[in-house]
Amino acid sequence: MNYVIVGASAGVGRALAYQFARAGHNLVVAASDARDLEATASDLRIRCGVRVETVVMDLARIDETALRQIEQAAGDLGGLHGLLLPAGTVSPDDTAHAASGEIDRLTRVNYLSMASVIQRLLPLLQGHPAVIVGFGSVAAMRGRGRNVAYAAAKRALESFFESLRHAFSNTDLNVQFYVLGYMNTQMAFGIRTLLPKADPDRLSRVVLANIARDTGVMYYPRYWRFINWVIRMIPWQLYKRLNF
Ligand SMILES: NC(=O)c1ccc[n+]([C@@H]2O[C@H](COP(=O)([O-])OP(=O)(O)OC[C@H]3O[C@@H](n4cnc5c(N)ncnc54)[C@H](OP(=O)(O)O)[C@@H]3O)[C@@H](O)[C@H]2O)c1
Repeated sequence: MNYVIVGASAGVGRALAYQFARAGHNLVVAASDARDLEATASDLRIRCGVRVETVVMDLARIDETALRQIEQAAGDLGGLHGLLLPAGTVSPDDTAHAASGEIDRLTRVNYLSMASVIQRLLPLLQGHPAVIVGFGSVAAMRGRGRNVAYAAAKRALESFFESLRHAFSNTDLNVQFYVLGYMNTQMAFGIRTLLPKADPDRLSRVVLANIARDTGVMYYPRYWRFINWVIRMIPWQLYKRLNF
């Protein structure tokens, strides 16, 4: 089968690319760093013997040309069975005082570009069994003084996915959303966390195993569903004093 993975040059996306390629699936992989992306794609071709096309695109500046490229690459595979969107970015400047340009960039990469890619590839994903997989963050469970725009974008993304799921609930298009806790990737490098960072390879195995199932919203690791519930229950007067 044929899949598009946006954000496949590192972390969760790269782990997904290896997992899906090892399972014999052809891929279109996209990211902004051409060198990392080409290195990943060449390795996948050699090690897994599948077809791998690359699309270099900066999600902060996604435009008609980039959308046309990814649509063309996906179409050239000859039938698209899935779109996985593990791309994402954070910033140490993402506070309540962040400059508007930074808020704009974080919103584009983490939400707006995802919606644009989905809308563009939707026609290729309809009329046969297919899947769209989004990746959110536990950072979006409640607003706080850090990751301000990132959390807002991830919450918007989660809502967008819920709407997609509702819209396509009685069709062959399966819509899945993973809410991720801390992952052992570049994004969380050097960040001290209270809970252990999860392994992206293990997550990618879970995603592949669930790809044809109607899983809806999944938390990974699963205990984050309970933590999310508890954090949302904390009254504001107490919540505003927490420093996490
Ligand atoms: N790591 C965590 O602790 C954590 C926790 C919760 C949720 N998440 C979410 O999990 C997903 C995977 O994160 P990760 O940990 O794998 O992150 P990562 O290691 O930083 O990888 C992010 C991927 O997104 C791509 N990307 C980032 N900015 C881009 C841009 N402007 N244009 C195109 N591609 C871009 C990167 O490629 P280029 O650098 O080549 O552009 C890379 O392939 C993300 O959605 C993230 O928000 C992560």
